[in-house]
Parts: sequence; C-alpha cells; structure tokens
Amino acid sequence: MLVLGIETSCDETGIALYDTQRGLLSHALYSQIAMHREYGGVVPELASRDHIRRVLPLIRQALAAAGCELHHVGAIAYTQGPGLAGALLVGASIGAALSFALNIPALGIHHLEGHLLSPLLSAPAPVFPFIALLVSGGHTQLMQVDAAGHYRLLGETVDDAAGEAFDKTAKLLGLGYPGGAALSQLARQGRPGLFKLPRPMLNSGDLNFSFSGLKTAVLTLLNKQEIGDQTRADIALAFQEAVVEVLTEKSLAALTQTGLKQLVVAGGVGANAQLRHTLNEKAATLGATVFYPELEFCTDNGAMIAFAGAMRLQAMPESTRQPARSFNVHARWNLEMLETPGAD
Ligand code: KG4
Ligand code: ZN
Repeated sequence: MLVLGIETSCDETGIALYDTQRGLLSHALYSQIAMHREYGGVVPELASRDHIRRVLPLIRQALAAAGCELHHVGAIAYTQGPGLAGALLVGASIGAALSFALNIPALGIHHLEGHLLSPLLSAPAPVFPFIALLVSGGHTQLMQVDAAGHYRLLGETVDDAAGEAFDKTAKLLGLGYPGGAALSQLARQGRPGLFKLPRPMLNSGDLNFSFSGLKTAVLTLLNKQEIGDQTRADIALAFQEAVVEVLTEKSLAALTQTGLKQLVVAGGVGANAQLRHTLNEKAATLGATVFYPELEFCTDNGAMIAFAGAMRLQAMPESTRQPARSFNVHARWNLEMLETPGAD
C-alpha cells in the first residue's frame, strides 16, 4: 500500500510517499527557515500561510519523482500534533480532504512518533526494544520504545529543549536563526579547556535534563570577557561540550538501567557531529550500538510521517481504516497517551 505523508507542524513542509512493500519512494521538503530568519524565530501565522502555498506543489513533486499518480495512494498520514496549531491545521485539512475525495483512510500521526521511528528508515535498522534520545528544537526526552505505539517516558527536560538551548546560545553569540548547526560550525574553531560551563543535572540521579541555566552561564561569560572571534568559538565549544556530556551520560544511564543495548537518536540536534562522536565512543564501552536517521531525516520531514503512518496502518484491523469525515489537531499532545495501533 502506498502511504502519502504530510508534515506541517512547524517551519518545514515535508511530503513523502512510502510503499509498504517497496519502502520510501520519494520525498520533498520546503524549509521556511529563510523567511523566519529575519524575525529571529518562527512566526506562526507566516508559517501556516506558507504551508498552504507549498503542500499541493510538493505533493505533485513527490508523486512525479515516484512515478505515481494520486489515485495510486492508498492512505494518508498527516502530522496531527504536537506543533503550531495553525500550521498543523493546514496539513490536517489537506490530508483529510484528500482522504475523503479519494475514499482512502486518513491517519493523524504524532510528530514525535515520526522522529522516534525515523531510524527504522535506514539500514541497518534497530530492532525493538530500544532506547530513544529525542533531541529537537521543542523536545528533549529519553524514551523506552518497546514496539510501535508502546513508548515509556524515562526522562525529559524540565525547562528548555536541547535544540532551544543551542538556538538561544547561538543568538547570544551573534549567530543567525536557527543557530544549532552554526554554533557547532563555530565550535570547530574553539580551543578545548579554556572555559568550563556547568553540567546541569548531571548527578540528579534521574534521567531528566535542564538546559536553561547554560545559556545564562554563557551570558555571564560574554558580559565578563573582551569578546573576539576566537573567544566566541571557545565559548561555543564549551557550551557544546556541556550539552553533549549531559546528553551522553543520561543516555548511557538509560541503557544501563534498562539493560538495553540499542540507542536511537532522533531530532535535529541528532545532526550534531560532536554528539554523534561522543555517543558512539561511550556506547561502545557498554557494548551498545547507536542508530541515527539519515541526516536529511534528523530534522522535520515527511518521510518519517509516511513511515509512522504505514506502521500504524499495518497494525490496524481492516474495519477501522476509514476515510476522514472530520479532523482536529493537538497543539500539545503527550506521546505516552497515544493509542496503540490495533488495541481496543
Ligand atoms: O527536529 P527539528 O528539525 O525540529 C523540531 O521538531 O524542533 O530540530 C531543530 C533543532 C533546532 O533547534 C536546531 O538548532 C537544532 O535542531 N540543530 C542542531 C544541529 N542541527 C540542527 N543542533 C546542534 N547541532 C546541529 N548540528
Ligand atoms: Zn521535529
């Protein structure tokens, strides 16, 4: 069955076609980053309007790239939440309208479930159960994933998400929005050991995180120093080292506590090279393996939504696969509250 995935939860319009037999056939993405950059962050109303402009052309593009026609599509998977309500409504309304018009099932997908399952699109893929470190602009969570739809929260941030901390610190260092990738580029020029920043909650005894204090620590450093380019790079490196150490140590603790040997890293911060390097090295000492989605599937994309939709669909009894008659979105949505596919 061919599943059309539609992702519009934030500032990326992502469309993909996933075939349950043949795998991912095509995907198309439009990033709104350039539009939001001049405001220093995502402007929700502009995001919604732009999704309206992009979704249908991107669907045509993805269909052409896969050599398919709209009538070949057997089901629609759209991001139902969490995210910006107006942006989500664009994908949900187009997804529901297509489902109704084509008389095919529509599935509302949890955005974080898409991220969690995205490493399964790559080879070699992890096998259930595994630990997932979800590190995006909006979330920082450690989850135990027993199967599709079976997620147990082990720990999460009590304040800023890791990506948010990267973005806010990047802003302090005079880098553009979103600053995660730019900050990690700058950190490459940094000299190790010149600045030592705190490791928030490293020894808290649980699997929770806190990142908001780090940006304050950076601000204090910036106020104290004569800031040249080299110093900015040194501070960027010190910041990155602090975040990477905390994420790594807590991920290892989750592996140790559960006895699991596979760690999956998902979300935009998973693109960070130092995080990947450190996690790989440390996990190996436990005999554990770390899995990452392809770089293009680390950040928001339609492929992960089409894939999560395909997995859910396969677990659903035939009688429950219905075309949409209405739709809604959940701007806030707890992953643990998700219904398990196929359950009553
Ligand atoms: O998963 P994602 O695309 O969107 C959300 O669902 O939030 O993640 C975006 C986040 C941003 O905060 C961005 O700065 C961060 O991922 N990011 C990075 C890197 N690339 C993207 N953070 C650190 N290092 C990177 N290389
Ligand atoms: Zn995301």
